[in-house]
This record gives sequence, structure tokens and C-alpha cells, in this order.
Amino acid sequence: MSNLQNDLFLRAALGQTTERPPVWLMRQAGRILPQYRALRANFPDFKAFVKTPEAAAEATIQPVDELGVDAAIIFSDILVVPEAMGLDYEMIEAKGPRFPKVIEQAADVAALDAGAAAATRLDYVYAALRLTKSQLAGRVPLIGFAGAPWTIFAYMVEGGGSKTFSKARRMLYTDPELSHALLQKITDTTIAYLRGQVAAGADLLQIFDSWAGELPPAHYATFAVPYLRQICEAIPEVPKTVFAKGAWFALPELAELPCQVIGLDWNITPQYARQVVGTGKTLQGNFDPCALYAAPAQVRAEVQAMLEAFGPQRHIVNLGHGVYPDTPLDGVRAFVDAVRAYAFES
Ligand code: CP3
Repeated sequence: MSNLQNDLFLRAALGQTTERPPVWLMRQAGRILPQYRALRANFPDFKAFVKTPEAAAEATIQPVDELGVDAAIIFSDILVVPEAMGLDYEMIEAKGPRFPKVIEQAADVAALDAGAAAATRLDYVYAALRLTKSQLAGRVPLIGFAGAPWTIFAYMVEGGGSKTFSKARRMLYTDPELSHALLQKITDTTIAYLRGQVAAGADLLQIFDSWAGELPPAHYATFAVPYLRQICEAIPEVPKTVFAKGAWFALPELAELPCQVIGLDWNITPQYARQVVGTGKTLQGNFDPCALYAAPAQVRAEVQAMLEAFGPQRHIVNLGHGVYPDTPLDGVRAFVDAVRAYAFES
């Protein structure tokens, strides 16, 4: 496929036969790597880092060099989208994101920019993608990404992470119309943004719905799935992965989306997911990130068990969520190496 030296990841995404499953890790570009921490130390804060294409490109390629993963994911964050829409955030060291101003009423939604007008403010991400693409020189595919509308909505209404997401979930009951208006603005911006990423060289797009599991199934069907569908339908040019963390209950609907890959967390068995999704899509996941703290021999055994549970073909190996920053590199290496040593029976 195209000019890639290693196209395992894209072949698996498209359902083509592979010699072994491809492997990468969510949040592979980041604090698990000493090289990342050294590079990051040159910047006053996370946002300055993200907005410097040379640094973002370097962080993106570090795990390819250091771990031998089969795909790179552009170094950025899902929160650049609300920022481009006019809702500024701060990244507080060791705590996480915080939005000084949040969305509470109709006037707040009306004041937001959306679509192409907002997405042009993300030129620095497109620049990082172009630079990364050229520096990768076809070694592995490059993944672009965005947050799913519901997850971005949750940050914009809550103003940060939350134990209950009760402000964001409350709005779905008390003002469904306003909720839909905000979700649509986020969706329009996300579509323009993801199109820009494809134009800049992204080979596949992943949509992170990190807070999917917070919603009751009826709300997930009403306030999340239709917007995921709009995004998937708007960008037919590249394969797409939908990762809806905690949304095992929505798997039948996710299986109907026009995407090629479904990401799974560790709360679901591969056998159950395959039974619900059928053979028409590739499954990605779903190693418990905490298993990486075990001794390398145990990591290898757990990987073997996971690979057998998924069965041959249409599987992209990943964790069930992002790698935790204090994970020992030995565990991460054992994970990647165990997959790379595996061969499907022919
Ligand atoms: O390697 C990669 O996967 C690419 C980079 C990437 C980052 N964030 C870098 C980052 C990706 C794909 C994301 C996505 C992201 N960001 C998600 C979706 C995935 C998920 O984990 O559910 C979410 C929910 C966010 C929001 C976010 N960004 C939080 C909650 C935090 C703070 C927690 C933390 O991990 O520190 C961030 C900050 C962030 N994003 C860091 C990195 C490397 C750490 C900041 C730093 O290094 O200074």
C-alpha cells in the first residue's frame, strides 16, 4: 500500500490478511519515554510544546524509534478543538486540563466559532503532521485523531475532568436542544479539523470518546452515536477507528458505523466483542494498561492469552486505554516485542 515500508497497521484496519497483528499504544508519545521528558523540559508548558511542530514531530517519532511500534500517532491533544472554537484551557502540571470559562447557556454556545473558521486555527497541527510525515519517510503509517463530540462537550461543560460528569450529563436532560446545538458545533469543527489532518498526511483517523461510559445507553444513542456517524460519513478518504471507552453497551450501534476499526477497553472480552461486531470490522485493543507493571515474562504470557482470545486476523493490538505515565519501559517493551514475535498460523 502507498509508499509505506511497514503497512501492517493499515492492512489490518482494512481487513486485509497480515502475517502478525500490528501493535501500537495509546499515549505512546509521552512521559513513559525519557526522550520525551527531556524534550518536554525545553518548554514552559504542554500547550507551548503542542504548538511547536518540530517538537510535536519529534515526540511523535520517538516511540517508533524506541519501541518499534507499527504506527505513529501525531503528538497533540483532543482539547485543541475547544480552544480553536474560542474556549481556552490550561494544562495544569500533574493534574490535567482546566477551562477557566465553561459552557452554561445559549449565549455561550452562540459565541463559539465552528467549522472551517475554527479549524484554521489548528494550522500548527497540520504543520506537525506534514513535518512528521516527511521525517517518517514511510517507515510506518501516521494516525491523526480528535476527541468525539460527547467527550469534548463534557470538557466544555464541566471545565475539566470529573468524577460524576454531572454538569455535562445534567444538560442533556435539562436542555437537550442546547446540548444538540453544542454537539453540532463541535462536530462541524471536528470534521473540518480531521479533513485538514488528512490533507496534511494522516493515514487513518481515531476518534477518542473517552467519557462514553458515563452515559446511559439511551443518551449515548441520542447524543453521541449520530455525531460519530456524521464524522465517519464526512471523511470517506481514510480508514477510521472509533474508540468509545466504557461503551460496551453501545457495541451493536458502533458496529453499524461507517468506520473500519472499533477500539475496545479491557472491560469486554474479545470473544463477546467479535460476536456483537461480526467479521466486518477490525478490533483494536484491549490489554489492561496495568498488566504492563508486571514482570516481562508475565506480560508476555498475558499478551499471548489476549492474542489467542482475539483469534487470527482483523486485530490491531493496543491497550484498553492510554498507557499510564509511570509504566516501566521494560513492561512496554515486553508487550511490543511479544506481539512482534507472534505469527498467525497460515
Ligand atoms: O501518544 C499519543 O497518544 C498522542 C498524544 C495524545 C495526548 N493526548 C498527549 C498528552 C493523545 C492522543 C491525547 C488524547 C487525549 N487527551 C484524550 C483521549 C485519550 C484518553 O486518554 O482518553 C484525553 C481525554 C485528553 C485530555 C488530557 N490531556 C488529559 C486528561 C490530560 C492530563 C492527564 C495526563 O495524562 O497528564 C492531558 C495532558 C496530556 N496529553 C499529556 C500528554 C503527553 C501530558 C502532559 C505533559 O506531558 O505535560
